[in-house]
Amino acid sequence: MKHLIAPSMLSCNFLDLQHSIEMINNSEADWFHLDIMDGVFVPNITFGQPVVKYIKKMAKKPLDVHLMIVQPERYFQDFKDAGADILSFHYEASIHLHRSIYAVKNLGMKAGVTLNPHTDVQLLEDVIADVDMVLIMSVNPGFGGQAFIENSYRKIGALKEMILKRNSAALIEVDGGVTFDNAAQLVDCGVDILVAGNTIFSHPNPTEAIKRLKMLQ
Ligand code: DX5
Ligand code: ZN
Repeated sequence: MKHLIAPSMLSCNFLDLQHSIEMINNSEADWFHLDIMDGVFVPNITFGQPVVKYIKKMAKKPLDVHLMIVQPERYFQDFKDAGADILSFHYEASIHLHRSIYAVKNLGMKAGVTLNPHTDVQLLEDVIADVDMVLIMSVNPGFGGQAFIENSYRKIGALKEMILKRNSAALIEVDGGVTFDNAAQLVDCGVDILVAGNTIFSHPNPTEAIKRLKMLQ
């Protein structure tokens, strides 16, 4: 499958959210990536269900919601109601991971499990057949515009190997510090979805930036 592009709305101009949504609708982007932070799991607070609900009204592409919150299962139903299509929560925030994966799936969403940079991909071996997506954090979550952690390539390679070995259909998404310089190598390593915030929204022409990440040339 051709890799997908999921622009992270964290880096867009919130004073002109409508414009950014339209830009993504009309671009070669595949998903909207929405970062939900609670100020506890990560040292930053972003936005919640009401904003997701407004984005859903205009968005013509799936909403990929990335929860960076403690006890994420408290909010699965709320984000379903707000319009999430893919819902990812952190391995580090979930005590009953298997139960949580099925709670998300039973609500009719795709379930993603996210790993912080220090978390070993092998910890997912017993649920890799159950998840729809694994989100590899290639920065420490909390902020856009950080530098890519080089060890992520190794993790992605190991995860891809596990997915193939277990005959899993899980997709691999990478989030944090994705640039024009590392995107091709990430796709070569097995990444299916590239999230990008700063690379897209600090570009003079975000639509072109999306196209370049999609074409990888
Ligand atoms: C970080 C978020 C990312 C972030 C990516 O905690 O999960 O989605 O917005 O931003 P860039 O692409 O600028 O690193
Ligand atoms: Zn994210």
